[in-house]
Amino acid sequence: MIVRLQINGAPTTIHTAPGTTLLALLRDEMGLTGAKEACSRGDCGACTVLVGERAVPSCVVLAARVDEPVRTVEGIAADATALREAFADCGGLQCGYCTPGLVVRAYQLIESGECDGTDADAVRRALSGNFCRCTGYNGVITAIEQAAIEQTANEQAAIDRAAAESA
Ligand code: FES
Ligand code: FES
Repeated sequence: MIVRLQINGAPTTIHTAPGTTLLALLRDEMGLTGAKEACSRGDCGACTVLVGERAVPSCVVLAARVDEPVRTVEGIAADATALREAFADCGGLQCGYCTPGLVVRAYQLIESGECDGTDADAVRRALSGNFCRCTGYNGVITAIEQAAIEQTANEQAAIDRAAAESA
């Protein structure tokens, strides 16, 4: 069957089998290997991508059912500079399996305004679908809070500048 999607801003048409998951399409047909396959059941978050404004486990989403733009960890990389720097600064970078999904979920949390950097427990709850049994989450949570606070400050500065210019 033919599947038409917008992936990382590019309209894309692909011939694929009807049961192809979004994760398989991204990895096997598009070469976008940032999203990882681990549990294959929607439980671990390693395969997290953005569909529209939602962070979803792409291993349990049929590609043919997707009707909103898809962004992968590769697609958000340019926009997530502050977040990537915060992950590096705070020791939030973990293994190649969990980190891409964590970064995508963190990006969505900050962009949606769900996280403003003031509630670590809320961040911890929001990451409950992104598993890591190895290192703990403290560095990741600190990184997300740091990036969220920076983004909030940048947005406020932009508002203040606009107000000053129009005064
Ligand atoms: S591989 Fe998709 S949630 Fe685990
Ligand atoms: S699964 Fe990535 S560091 Fe534990």
